[in-house]
Formats: sequence, C-alpha cells, structure tokens
Amino acid sequence: MSLVLGIDTSTTATKAILVDRSGAVRGVASATYGYQTPQPLWSEQSPESWWEGTASSIRDVMEATETSPGDIEAVGLTGQMHGSVLLDGEGAVVRPAILWNDQRTGSQCDEIRRRIGKQRLIEITGNDALTGFTAPKLLWVQEHEPENWARVHHVLLPKDYVRFRLTDEYAVDVADGSGTILFDLKSRTWSPEVIDALGIAADLLPSAHEGPDVTGIVSGDGSEATGLLEGTPVVAGGGDQSANAVGVGAIAPGVVALSLGTSGVVFATTDGPAVDPEGRVHAFCHAVPRRWHMMGVMLSAAGSLRWLRDAVAPNSSFDDLVAGAAEVPPGSDGLLFLPYLTGERTPHPDPLARGALVGLTVRHDLRHMTRAVMEGVAFGLRDGLDLMVAAGVAAPSQIRASGGGMRSGLWRQILADVLEAEIAVVGTEEGAAYGASLLAAVGTGWFDTIDQAAGKVIEVKPVATPSSAGEVYDAAHARFADLYPALAPTFHATD
Ligand code: XUL
Repeated sequence: MSLVLGIDTSTTATKAILVDRSGAVRGVASATYGYQTPQPLWSEQSPESWWEGTASSIRDVMEATETSPGDIEAVGLTGQMHGSVLLDGEGAVVRPAILWNDQRTGSQCDEIRRRIGKQRLIEITGNDALTGFTAPKLLWVQEHEPENWARVHHVLLPKDYVRFRLTDEYAVDVADGSGTILFDLKSRTWSPEVIDALGIAADLLPSAHEGPDVTGIVSGDGSEATGLLEGTPVVAGGGDQSANAVGVGAIAPGVVALSLGTSGVVFATTDGPAVDPEGRVHAFCHAVPRRWHMMGVMLSAAGSLRWLRDAVAPNSSFDDLVAGAAEVPPGSDGLLFLPYLTGERTPHPDPLARGALVGLTVRHDLRHMTRAVMEGVAFGLRDGLDLMVAAGVAAPSQIRASGGGMRSGLWRQILADVLEAEIAVVGTEEGAAYGASLLAAVGTGWFDTIDQAAGKVIEVKPVATPSSAGEVYDAAHARFADLYPALAPTFHATD
C-alpha cells in the first residue's frame, strides 16, 4: 500500500488523514484541545498541545487502518494561519502562541501603518495591518514582554511548529508566510523593508518554500513520538485556507472556494498578485506554485445561525429552524441582518462592528429572522467576492463550498442566487487535511503538478444553480450595503 499523510493543526483539534494513490481517504483520526482567553480579546494556545495532538492522531490513524510506517511515502502539513509561535535558541517555547482570532493588537496595527505607511504596506504585502495577522503580535510581545522578546531565536506559524518537532527544520510555506504580512507578495519571500521597519532580525524567520516542496525528513525524535519512519519526507504544505482550496480543487481562476463554518471564507485564485488598493480583502500567495489568491473572511457565518438558535430558539433543531425559513419568500419580507456579531474582517475590518436585525415589523416572526440571518451571511460573503472581482479576480463560474452550513439545501440555494454562481461540493469533507495530502502526493512524485492531482482525484458535484430570485436579492443586498456605514457611529459609541 502506498499512502500520503495529511496533518491539519486547527484551533480546536489536530487531524491526521491517510490518502491512497487513487485519492481515496483511507482513515481519519483527530485529537481535540481547547484554547485559552486569559484576558478579554486574548486567544492563546500551547504549541505542545498541537504536538501531542499530532503524535496521538498519527498513531491512531495508523493503528485503525493497520498501516505500517513504511507505507507512508510523504507527509503534508496545514493548520490555522497567522498564530505567533516564539522559540528560544534551544527550540523551547518562550510563551503561549497568540492565535489568529486574538484581538489585542489594535494599537500595534496602527504602529505598523505609522512606520511603513498604509499604502506602502499594501503595495509590498498585499494587505493592511489587521489584528488577526502575525506581525502585530510580534510588536505586541516586543512592547509588552521585552524579556520574552529578548529570548526569541525563532518565529514560526502553528503548523510549522509541528514541522519543527517532526523534522528539526525551521521552515514555512509561502501561503502561511504571506499571512504574517512580513512577506513580499510578488517575490514570495520575506520583505527586508517590512521586517527592518518592525525590528525583526531576518535570522529569526524560517526559510520559505512552495507548497509541494520537501522541507525536511522525519527525525529520530519525530519518529519516536509519532511512529512514522525516520527519513519520511515532509512537504511545505499550506495555511488552512490555501490547503482547503487545493483540497476542493479551487486552484485556478474562475473556481472559487467558499467555506461556511463558524466563520465564512470566499477564496479566489489569481495568476498574479492582485490587490485591493485599500486592503479590504486579503491577498496571499497560494499553496500552488506561481499562483496567488484573494480572500474575504467573515468572522460569524454559520456562527450567526448558531447564535440565533441559542439566543432565540434554544429548543429548536437547525433543521426545524431552516424548514421555517423556507416558508418565507426570498428577501425575508424586508427584514435584514448584519452578521458582525464578533466584529468583522471583510469588507469592514472593524473589531467594534456589531450585528443587527433591521426592518422588524409585527408581521415578522422567527422564520423571517432565520431566513434574514442566512441571507445576511450570503450578502456579507458577496461583499467580499465583489471586492475581489473589482480587484481583478475572475467572476466565478463555479463555487466549491464546504463547511457545516452547506448541509442546508436552502442555504446552498441562497448562496447560488446571491453570489450568482453554481454551487458545488466535492467528494471528501476533509478540506485542508486533504489538500495537505495532495501537496504531499505532488511532492513525492505521484503527480507532476497540483492541477494534475486535482484533475485526477477530486470529484465535483453541483448542488445549486442561480434561480429567478437573484433580482430580489440584488435589491436587498443594496439596502444591506447601506447599513454598516449608517450604523458604524452607533457601534463605535457602544461600550
Ligand atoms: C484565515 C484565518 C483562519 C485561520 C483559522 O485568514 O484567519 O482561517 O487560519 O483557521
């Protein structure tokens, strides 16, 4: 048997999957963990928990599938993006990792813009400074924990800590690298201008590699902890969004990846480094060599529907709620929902943005509220897609969708109508871990390119096409788009 192993170090669990030469998933195992919020706005995790999760999920998946270590030809890594992992000269962790969903660094973002200039920063990195990204976290540690910063010899991203423990190498892929905003988007490597301006010595940063490149081999210690064979090659892989795009085959212009989990992401591949001049959508390198991508990130997508259920109808199932929403016409009889329940990133990078139900009348009930939430999430995702198309992304011919929200046929139809594109799903739900496996399969020579791998193994099934409801949604979306500018002063005045 010849297999590749994909490992996804997410915020809630580490997952290990085994994939065979036909692209079939032969086994999946995962180990869950929590994250800490020691202060409001903070979000931290112990890198050791990722490594423990990696070791146990690899052992579990091998045991469950009776795989012998010699069957695994290569390993691909993916994981939560933007976290800051700080190591000392011995490779020991200096402080807990600060995660992508940590919001403490508002003033460090201002400082980055002050030192580099917002326009220059966007010109080099493709992005404005946002609290989620890595660079402001490094400034925060410099400023608030100088004794810790003085001990830092290596800065890594979360999945690259797993790589370090597996292979003893300090390396990153270009997709995750660009999510630090210390990267030159065009040349796909660290920007001397940005790192100098932020007081980060170049030798703190790992070497940067294209997604399918081999960055090292499993070491003796890595083998002892995981049961993998010493010498097994490990490829660069990709941050979770670009690896997910590989996993659903969103690797060329025109095919967009959409994920509808707690957060929502619209991801579009470009042949060159396209950028929104105001940095309202992210622009990163893709895990596919010589390709880039733009991405809109909504913080509360399916999370908004969960909120509605928990807050308003705790005894209802999601199926019942959605069945009620289907009884209401497109446009929810004029009711609009703003999905900014946990602040927002795209298109309004505003931690103080808030949710709202606007246009309530006595005629509206829970069914309208549910439909308005589902439509509001679709409108917010459309805002991201519209900005990307304005910045030069090809309008989608197909959207490959994944995530818990896609179980709802109604939500699929709303997305097809609002985004005006066919919605399709793929044969596996393993998303980012599957993409990491495909990157390993290319790295080990099963396929010449990622395009070839995706063409051979990814099965695509269309599930919704745009209907005549599009016009109603266009009008509702126009009213939706007016709401944030009108309400922002109220949001900002709220404690
Ligand atoms: C992407 C992002 C999230 C994290 C967590 O920009 O912040 O997708 O990678 O999974």
